[in-house]
Amino acid sequence: MIKTPKRAIMENIIDGKLTAHEIKREIKSEVEILIESGKKQPHLAAILVGHDGGSETYVAYKIKDCEEVGFKSSLIRFEDDISEHELLKKIHELNENEDIDGFIVQLPLPNHIDEQKVIEAIDPNKDVDGFHPVNVGRTVIGLPSFVSATPSGIIELFKRYQIDTSGKNCVIVGRSNIVGRPLSILMSQKKINATVTVAHSRTRDLDKVCAKADILIAALGSPEFIKADMVKEGAVVIDVGTTRVPSTETKSGFRLKGDVKYDEVAPKCAHITPVPGGVGPMTRVALLGNTLIAAKAKS
Ligand code: GUN
Repeated sequence: MIKTPKRAIMENIIDGKLTAHEIKREIKSEVEILIESGKKQPHLAAILVGHDGGSETYVAYKIKDCEEVGFKSSLIRFEDDISEHELLKKIHELNENEDIDGFIVQLPLPNHIDEQKVIEAIDPNKDVDGFHPVNVGRTVIGLPSFVSATPSGIIELFKRYQIDTSGKNCVIVGRSNIVGRPLSILMSQKKINATVTVAHSRTRDLDKVCAKADILIAALGSPEFIKADMVKEGAVVIDVGTTRVPSTETKSGFRLKGDVKYDEVAPKCAHITPVPGGVGPMTRVALLGNTLIAAKAKS
């Protein structure tokens, strides 16, 4: 029996894992060039407060990614009873530390700490998460800025897969400060040129709104929310969802579920990102890209 090549069946898949791998190779060779020319190793620091399972995993990946591309990394840990004052003090220290090019404070933080205050304490030039209002504002008016990792990773996928976005009707479901809102800005900017709708929990006839999208971006954090009847034939579907659900099939006891009911939606799509292996790896690599920009800006 002749087997159909796997690649042929999955031709519409946007492979974020493979693309992120390529970008990591590019970053690694840029780091080698920097070092050969006598510059210092780019250095990313991460602050992790407490022991949330998800945050532990994400930060461990960030540190591992740094090693892979030749960055220096520092992990700074605090117990979850750290005071806001102590945390802000550490942030000021990192702002002043010449060796650190960029740093992140992994979110969420414990309830007694004001996240916005923490974000605003970070020097915008070291805010490689792109969460500081200065970076968000600069992004809105198209000035050079650190763009948060997930939107930036998604835009990179559109570019590398040469997906035609100009004049397309793009519906983003979800209006978070980290994903939906900044992505809506980027999608409407020149070069991308999409016509953007930001849908959310109060959107009337959400299924009909989604079904009109040429490009549907699901970023609401609700597993398998987007069903086949909400997707137009030939649409491009980007799944930002990464909800950890219990699983007996993995070592960790969890697996990731996207916001899209993949099996029924994928056959209708021109392109679709899987979960895992779609947006997630691109988010991770975008943080590395921002750190490299921060390092180069200083050298
Ligand atoms: N928590 C979930 N996503 C992120 C992220 O991209 N950056 C930080 N700092 N915390 C997060």
